[in-house]
Amino acid sequence: MAEEPTEGSLTAVDGGWIARIDTSVAHPARVYDYWLGGKDNFAADREAAERVLAASPGLRERVRANRAFLARAARFLAAEAGIWQFLDIGTGIPAANNTHEVAQAAAPRSRVVYVDNDPIVLVHARALLASGPQGATQYVDGDLRDPAAILRAAAETLDFTQPVALMLLGILHLIQDSEGPYEIVAELMDALAPGSYLALAHPASDIGPGQAEAQRRYNERVSTPQRLRSQDEVARFFAGLDLVPPGLVYVHAWRPDPGDVVPPGGVSSHGGVARKP
Ligand SMILES: C[S@@+](CC[C@H](N)C(=O)[O-])C[C@H]1O[C@@H](n2cnc3c(N)ncnc32)[C@H](O)[C@@H]1O
Repeated sequence: MAEEPTEGSLTAVDGGWIARIDTSVAHPARVYDYWLGGKDNFAADREAAERVLAASPGLRERVRANRAFLARAARFLAAEAGIWQFLDIGTGIPAANNTHEVAQAAAPRSRVVYVDNDPIVLVHARALLASGPQGATQYVDGDLRDPAAILRAAAETLDFTQPVALMLLGILHLIQDSEGPYEIVAELMDALAPGSYLALAHPASDIGPGQAEAQRRYNERVSTPQRLRSQDEVARFFAGLDLVPPGLVYVHAWRPDPGDVVPPGGVSSHGGVARKP
């Protein structure tokens, strides 16, 4: 993606897939990539990302903290909770510590199904499919708002009679209240065997006065609007599940490794990991 596009869209081909990429409007995966310091973003993404950053000091560090939480949660699930099946929805553009890399480092037989609805992630699917020899990975071009279709597709790779970890990191804020985010999570968790897990991180509405303006600026520019949520609102996603210690916390404070970044003000996304009884 080195060249600046001159038209409003690109056609990208990878691994036999063709994806239409609209470069004229900022997209969540590419804005997030920019905040993380990645290269898979275009002028519209960078402009939107900078406008939001200006209203929300510490955002870059909070995004890095989210990504670090993803790695620690996946490592906990594979190394400590005995999970070897993962359903990662809202995968994002590959970055450091993709779920299958972390999981297969701890449990080589891990099977990982990635799901995203952005064509730019589809174009990168080959990097996500580079599984270790004992495990397996699958990429599904799918939408969280159609959980039944995701479950049908994922059954190619996952054994739903055995526990699965559902990973929903940095995606539920892209689902509006009117789209039924709590019902979607419940439908997915209902399909999973007892002993399954939910790992969830959600950007916060209640960590500072800049958040409302940051959300307004994001929604002014980015193709999918965001709905930041408070800790109480995020807690509702875990209804009926048993949160593992330390519970629902700022993600940078969830079982941190020495040297992990603490964002300014000591706040980040709300997140946690919970077990289905
Ligand atoms: C902020 S990124 C998070 C990436 C990664 N999970 C992480 O935490 O580092 C959100 C991702 O969710 C995807 N996404 C947004 N809405 C979606 C939907 N309705 N269905 C599937 N993917 C979606 C975006 O395309 C993007 O790649």
